[in-house]
Amino acid sequence: MFDLRPMTVADLPACLALWTGMPGITLFPTTDSADGLTRYLTRNPGLSVVALRDGRLVGAALAGHDARRGYLHHVAVAEEHRRKGLGRTMVEWCLRALTNEGIGRCHIFVDAGNDEGKEFWRHVGWEERPGVHVMSVTTCPERA
Ligand SMILES: CC(C)(COP(=O)(O)OP(=O)(O)OC[C@H]1O[C@@H](n2cnc3c(N)ncnc32)[C@H](O)[C@@H]1OP(=O)(O)O)[C@@H](O)C(=O)NCCC(=O)NCCS
Repeated sequence: MFDLRPMTVADLPACLALWTGMPGITLFPTTDSADGLTRYLTRNPGLSVVALRDGRLVGAALAGHDARRGYLHHVAVAEEHRRKGLGRTMVEWCLRALTNEGIGRCHIFVDAGNDEGKEFWRHVGWEERPGVHVMSVTTCPERA
């Protein structure tokens, strides 16, 4: 029903069209620019996925790792194709790719107010980490 394949640089305009303005997806002008995303895909080849239906991109997820842990970002399904198992299938695809790279545990950052997103992650077997708070610092404003 959906065709899944690794995300390439050529997919980025369609991915950005899917992600832009979607509740639950936060885009940063630097890391989510075409250059920033190209850098991400180049550093993490073959780990991110797109899903197509009749040739149209209807789902996307970024995946990468730092040699210790895996991370997913921007897991998104077009509204008209939700609740058909595509989100789960894309997550499983990315986790398989990360496992093949020797990564045994994976994290996702979920906006505190994204209750539907949190519900999805619980349904696909992920658990919240109530004892963990994310803290960040900017070292290079042009790239933050
Ligand atoms: C989150 C999202 C990717 C889920 O995609 P999807 O294709 O609808 O998810 P699936 O159909 O694969 O659902 C998998 C499971 O999660 C459950 N689920 C999905 N969305 C849910 C919701 N909003 N509330 C409760 N359960 C939900 C499904 O019922 C299913 O459970 P089951 O297999 O036990 O029956 C999609 O809703 C989306 O793009 N949301 C906006 C972007 C976003 O918030 N992304 C997450 C950022 S952290």
